[in-house]
Amino acid sequence: MKILAIDTSCDDTSIAIADFSQKKSSFSFSLLANIVSSQVEIHKKWGGVYPTLAKREHQKNLTPVLTKTLKKAKLLKKRKEIKEINAKKIKKIKKFLEREPELAEELIFFLKNYQKPKIESIAVTIGPGLDPCLWTGINFSKAIAYFWNLPVIPVNHLQGHIFSAFLGRNISKLQTLISNPNKLLPAICLIVSGGHTQLILMEKIGKYKLIGETRDDAAGECFDKTARILGLSYPGGPAIAIEAKKYCPTKNSIEISLPRPMIKQNNYDFSFSGLKTAVLYNFKKQPLKIRKSKKYVQIMAKEIQQTIIDILIKKTIEAAKNSQAKSVIIGGGVTANKELRLQFKKILKKEKINFILPETKFSTDNAAMIALAACFQKQKTKDYQKIKSEPNLTFNQESNNKNF
Ligand code: KG4
Ligand code: ZN
Repeated sequence: MKILAIDTSCDDTSIAIADFSQKKSSFSFSLLANIVSSQVEIHKKWGGVYPTLAKREHQKNLTPVLTKTLKKAKLLKKRKEIKEINAKKIKKIKKFLEREPELAEELIFFLKNYQKPKIESIAVTIGPGLDPCLWTGINFSKAIAYFWNLPVIPVNHLQGHIFSAFLGRNISKLQTLISNPNKLLPAICLIVSGGHTQLILMEKIGKYKLIGETRDDAAGECFDKTARILGLSYPGGPAIAIEAKKYCPTKNSIEISLPRPMIKQNNYDFSFSGLKTAVLYNFKKQPLKIRKSKKYVQIMAKEIQQTIIDILIKKTIEAAKNSQAKSVIIGGGVTANKELRLQFKKILKKEKINFILPETKFSTDNAAMIALAACFQKQKTKDYQKIKSEPNLTFNQESNNKNF
């Protein structure tokens, strides 16, 4: 079965196509295409993501990304003649995309020129994320699903980040999870992205319990905000990682020691806003000459990165030990951080706990993870009205949510 997945939750427009089959305990998943159109250059100028600007970019990107994805999957077939679409259908497509009129025009042009691809369903991220961005992807998915007469599968973006750890060369681990769950479960999942820092207990596929989360900023947000203080570019995570790597201690290096908020507290919650404030105070108290120096930026970047890693590792390992977890699964943009990956690997090896982490290219937002998550989603619908953006969707809400 072929599935086309769409993710527009934040500042990346992504569409993927996968071919999968699922029979009792056998599961196969082959990724045919995964195109991500990053808006980072646009948001760099502003030092962060502006939802209305991001929505506008999704509008521009969706049809070209769809064309590219179908082409990569070898499913793009031009019609012999341009098809005339009847007025009723045009009206309906325009209705689905009434808040995205330029996108409607582009999509209609595409549908007139290209045949229906051999796809059985459409998956789309419904939340969490930026509301206007989510709606653009949802409306687009409804319009193409309606025209091609396909069901839509609503997907939780966070569930996608968990599944991202099983994409590519890790797909065999998912096969183990299905055929021999006791080998890997229960698992503790850590989601660390620009909008989320959550610890989730996974008892089986589809059964998740949120056990802790950030009370203020997310870890990625902390990377982004502290990078900005240091005059580094957006997104802050990769910029801080680069500076931290450059640091090499010398005899008269300054020393910086940042606080590790909540690290000693007996719970699985996080707090990163105090860390950002500590960086700002330290920065402001330095003479101009120091704070502008490369050495200062490098030592500070190294300390920020290590502080975030220490907090994430401490809470995750505690949660894993207390729940007798057999695995730790990580996902989200921050898991692209090399130091974080290395340090987690080392400690989990010592603790004899399996470590399942995404290939770096699947750490940040992508639609491949949405396609994989959709394979395990029961709800499929042609009643498109039912599908709505859920910007604050979390795991605990899910059990009460008819969508899941
Ligand atoms: O998962 P993601 O692509 O989007 C959201 O769902 O938020 O995560 C983006 C976040 C940003 O805050 C970015 O700074 C962070 O992931 N990030 C990193 C790295 N690459 C991206 N943080 C630390 N180190 C990295 N190498
Ligand atoms: Zn994400």
